[in-house]
Formats: sequence, structure tokens, C-alpha cells
Amino acid sequence: MTEPYLSQPIDETAAAKLREAGLRLSLVDTSDTAAYDAWLSADARGFHAKQPSAAALAQERELLAHRRLTAVHDDAIPASAGIVGTVSSWAAPLTVPGPRPLDAWLISSVTVSPTHRRRGIASALLPGQLRVAKDLGLAVAALTVSESTIYGRWGFGPSTFASSWSIAPRRAGWIGPKTTGRLSFTTPDEFRETSRELLVRQNEARAGEIRLTDYLAERQIAPLEGTTDAERYRLVRYDGPDGDPQGFITYVITGGESDFTDHTLDIVALVSTTPEANAALWRYVIEMDLVGKVRANTRGVDEPLPWLVKDLRQAQITGVQDHLWTRILDVPAALEARRYESSGSIVLDVEDSLGFTGGRFRLDVAADGSAQVRATEDAADVSMPISSLGSLYLGASAAPGLAASGRISGDVETVDRLFRTAVAPRLSSWF
Ligand SMILES: CC(C)(COP(=O)(O)OP(=O)(O)OC[C@H]1O[C@@H](n2cnc3c(N)ncnc32)[C@H](O)[C@@H]1OP(=O)(O)O)[C@@H](O)C(=O)NCCC(=O)NCCS
Repeated sequence: MTEPYLSQPIDETAAAKLREAGLRLSLVDTSDTAAYDAWLSADARGFHAKQPSAAALAQERELLAHRRLTAVHDDAIPASAGIVGTVSSWAAPLTVPGPRPLDAWLISSVTVSPTHRRRGIASALLPGQLRVAKDLGLAVAALTVSESTIYGRWGFGPSTFASSWSIAPRRAGWIGPKTTGRLSFTTPDEFRETSRELLVRQNEARAGEIRLTDYLAERQIAPLEGTTDAERYRLVRYDGPDGDPQGFITYVITGGESDFTDHTLDIVALVSTTPEANAALWRYVIEMDLVGKVRANTRGVDEPLPWLVKDLRQAQITGVQDHLWTRILDVPAALEARRYESSGSIVLDVEDSLGFTGGRFRLDVAADGSAQVRATEDAADVSMPISSLGSLYLGASAAPGLAASGRISGDVETVDRLFRTAVAPRLSSWF
């Protein structure tokens, strides 16, 4: 693997900060199986996951080989517990509004051992990750979060929202369109290549989605080693009337012990590249026999399901929560990389307490939706911290709420009109 980010040196500022605390920052040598496994085990422990089996470790070593793995060591404690902090990161295309995705710095596996929390380890690691991304010339960093209280302090803002669903399929009843394609069971081995292509197509068509790497794509179609109910995974593909693959669903059915007509169907992934495929796959689960409940999550906030069933109240959104968090590292490069659905000009005053990209910028959007951004001394129309710009970046309707909470001030209407997109951004996976 020759990705430039794999050989980028560790961030010396973070290393020095950790050294002062008696800790050591390193990049994991992934050719050293023992070191790789120790890092993977520390990551699992940090998220309260079970200790990965030998088979799970082998699979993760293979599927995560593209990532840059960073470790924090406490050399004063036994080596078996010595990794007390983890982060993984890699560069991958993030779909932004417009025709071209933007390479973003994706950050995952942020853990600090419970024995070493609240002593500033994450505070050293996160800005260090951002400096590495900046040095690599990337304009945006992004992550999904376990808790929404953690990352705002480093300039991330929530930029996509995800919905979770609970559906009573029999009572909901299908009234959506008749679909003319074909559904069929398949297997991960048979369908892996096609599913990867479908994921790329789906994700390139929607701002907020990312290009899934092997590990993340595999999780959409098959249980990874050690997954609960792995033997219950089912995979069904949808091909259009011409036989062209358009989507698939991965799901697990459990329960039914006390009432065999009342199983629960959990959707692992519902992937579609056309509205027909989306409807056909929803219909498939809504009309599933012996199922009393269907659950889904990481759907968009504009999922059409309520319009596809007779009784809207039987397709309940059980929650909507922040999902992707975006951190802009280079305002001109990021804002010029996306398209806009409305033309105009605005001067943004952006405050970045970490000093990556603050300043005053004029954004000029032409009639074709392309933008030019340059530094300016002109008076600002609108002011905001960098986290708010991160929230606006992918097109979410965040400006009114941010203004209401004092996190954008000035000409909110224009900034909202320029940044918001008709289709809300979405990220349909975790990373
Ligand atoms: C989140 C986590 C990585 C923070 O690591 P840490 O080294 O303890 O964090 P720090 O000591 O550097 O604290 C940084 C700041 O974040 C705050 N903070 C830390 N963990 C927090 C949490 N879980 N929720 C809210 N605030 C948190 C600290 O109070 C501190 O605030 P300050 O800047 O106002 O002083 C660690 O608690 C952890 O591993 N949690 C479990 C795994 C997890 O959820 N990881 C995040 C995945 S997205």
C-alpha cells in the first residue's frame, strides 16, 4: 500500500504534548502482527466491544490495512495494556454537493483507555490528526461520533442527520408503486463485486456519503468475524427490468420464540441507486410474512417510506440524530470544491480557534453554481465559528438553528439560501 498518508510522519506537536505526560505517540507498524493485534484489541476495549478472536483479528488486519493507525503508549505499565490511546485515519472521497467528490480525512477508532481518560490524551490526538490532514493538503476532515458532546471543541460541526425507524409492517401495509424488477437471494461471495459497485454509485449520488473502503463496504453485505447472529444474515439483490443491478438489502430476522408470527427484522443495509430499487426493497420487508416489527437506522431525513405505506403511523421515526461531523481545514478549497443551488455573493467571517483556516472570505457563486472564494478586507455579512461552517458545508438546513443559538450572526438568510441544498445530505453508514 503506497498511500502518502501512510508514510506521513507523526505530528510532533502531539508527540511532544504526550511526552510531557509521560506517554509515547507512535504509528503502528502493520507488518508487525503482534503490534497490529495489540492496537486492534485496545480499540475494541475502548468501545466496550468483545476481545476479537484470532479470526476476527486476521480479518481486521486485512481489511484495515489501508488505514493509518496511531497509538499512544504508556511504557510504565505492563506491555499487554500499554496502548492507552488509538486513532485510525485515511483519505477517501466525500461526496459534496455538485458533480465532483472531495478527498477528506476520515478519522475513526478514537479511544482512550478508561484507565487514562480525562488527562488530555484526546486533546493531543485530535488537533494532531487535523495537522496531519492539513499537511497532506486535505481541505476537510470528518468523522462519525459516539457522543455528540466531544468534537465541537476541535471545530467539527454536525453536517448530516440520520433517522431510525420502527415499523409494524402488517399494519403499515404497502401502497407504494408496483415494481417491475426482480428480487433474488444472493451470497456475499457471489455478489461482492456488484455490491461494491452499487455502494459507489449510491454514495457518489448523495452529498454526505463517503467512498467505502473494503472494511466498511464488507460490513454492508456480510457479517464480519464475531458478529452476533452472523448465521442469520440474508442478502437480497434487486435488479431492474433489464436485469441491471440497482440495489440490495442485508437483514437479520430474530425472535419469534413466543409467537412465531412475530419475528423482528433488522435492516443492516438497504442500498439503492434508483427510487425503484428503494421502493422494491422496502416493499420486500413490509410484506415479509411472520414479521411483526422492522427496524432500520442510518436512513436519511427524507426517507420516502411514510408515503409508501397505507398507515403512516405504523412507520415511525424513532429518532433523528447527528451523524457525520465535518471539520473544514481550508475554507477556500472546501467551499470551491462544492456547487451551490443559488447564485450570489457573501462575505464570511470565520473564527478558527485552532488556527487552521480562520479569516474573512468572499464567496462568489456564479449562475452555474460554481464558486470562487478569496480572502477579503470587506466588511463581513455573516460571522461564525468554523464548526458552524462545517455544519452548513454539505447542504443541511442548519443555518436558522445555528443563528437561533448564536452560532451564526449577520445575514443568515443569504448564507442559508447559498449553502442549503434541496436534497438533504445523508451518510448511511458508520465509520
Ligand atoms: C472520548 C474520549 C476519546 C476522550 O478522551 P480523553 O483523553 O479522556 O479526553 P481529554 O482528556 O482530552 O478531554 C478533552 C475534553 O473533552 C471532554 N470529554 C472527554 N470525553 C468526553 C465525553 N465522553 N463526553 C463529553 N466530553 C468529553 C473533556 O472533559 C475535555 O474537556 P475540556 O476541553 O473542556 O477540558 C474517551 O473518553 C473515550 O475513549 N471514550 C470512549 C470511546 C469513545 O466514545 N470514543 C469516541 C469515538 S467517536
